[in-house]
Amino acid sequence: MALLNYEDFFTERANRVKSSVIRELLRLGSQPGIISLGGGMPDPALFPVKLFKECMDMVLEEIPHISLQYGETVGYKPLREELVKISEKEGIKGVDADNILITSGSQQGIDFMSKMLIDKGDTVITEAPTYLSAVQSFDTFMAKFETIPVDDHGADIDILEQKLKMLKEKGIKPKFFYTVPTFQNPAGVSMSLERRKKLIQLAIENDLIIIEDNPYGDLRFTGENLPSLKALDTEDRVIYLRTFSKILAPGIRLGWIVAAKEVISKINLMKQSTDLCSPAITQAATAEYLKRDYLWPHLEVIKKSYAHKAEVMRKAIQDYFPSEIKTNTPEGGMFIWAVAPEKVDATAMFREAVDKGVAYILGSAFYPDGSGHHTMRLNYTMQTPENIEEGIRRLGILLKEKV
Ligand SMILES: Cc1ncc(COP(=O)(O)O)c(C=O)c1O
Repeated sequence: MALLNYEDFFTERANRVKSSVIRELLRLGSQPGIISLGGGMPDPALFPVKLFKECMDMVLEEIPHISLQYGETVGYKPLREELVKISEKEGIKGVDADNILITSGSQQGIDFMSKMLIDKGDTVITEAPTYLSAVQSFDTFMAKFETIPVDDHGADIDILEQKLKMLKEKGIKPKFFYTVPTFQNPAGVSMSLERRKKLIQLAIENDLIIIEDNPYGDLRFTGENLPSLKALDTEDRVIYLRTFSKILAPGIRLGWIVAAKEVISKINLMKQSTDLCSPAITQAATAEYLKRDYLWPHLEVIKKSYAHKAEVMRKAIQDYFPSEIKTNTPEGGMFIWAVAPEKVDATAMFREAVDKGVAYILGSAFYPDGSGHHTMRLNYTMQTPENIEEGIRRLGILLKEKV
């Protein structure tokens, strides 16, 4: 029995953070016997255990005074230097180690954006649908949301233009536009080159900051590579969030931010009061992993496996889903996004799906305004190809009853 009513003590901010019905439902989907297409995690069978262990052993044996010690808040210099090379490889110009700060995953980078840029009541613009945990962070900092729809070519930048005009007329200056332009979570789509260029132009004209979150861009298995917004940025308007979670392993909890030095200095100060520094041991091992050139060959292994699983899911959707369900064909990343006719309520259907032995993520979780009840996110990285096909078959039976 709780003797204190803690809500009276919690801040307004803390009281805003609540467990949602969606999370409760998600828990149902992780019961044994259920094929969950709901998770968003990388395939653990592909973690580069042997190679990473080699690097961990090396940093423990040879540089324990670094790997087991507190490190610089901004991040381990040799790792930042490796990340300069990765940035250059991506076509980002004029970056040195002082433009880079190491975070404990890109989720921490997102939270720093909230801490650094959002005062209570500030307006932020996101895509709809968009990454759930970014919305949670912005909401905790009491942002007001404006949203831009996403279609097959990414966020609709014409609508962003109209929205910026409308906000200007009302005297509102949005703090930033948060976007996941490549293999978006949850929609799986990428913003076209034309839209990317237009977005940069609009940002210049409207004095807008862009937060580009790119955890999936390296996981392209077909189609043309697209430049990141950061690579197209000529005015240091893009704050670029990256992570090792999907290309190495999320358990090392390492991400990085590429931004103007002024921005990096500010985040550095904020990080001191958050966690002093990201784990020195995984930073040192990851620097070694990059130096030994283990990242890119291993990425090929990951991409090959995900390409196969994505194709199995696409084919199963073609075979088992009713034609009324619209889905994207993934060129990379980890998700297929399914849009059913409006009358299908994927939230109401969730319990029935679990009874039939399959789970997905409710699309409505990814809309800041809670809409999108007829949408679902399907993940193909966590299950075997056999389970993917069986999961889609089970879901198809249910969807045929509903449309
Ligand atoms: C779009 C997006 N941003 C950020 C994250 C956070 O990743 P991490 O903190 O593991 O780097 C995720 C994780 O799934 C994501 O999908």
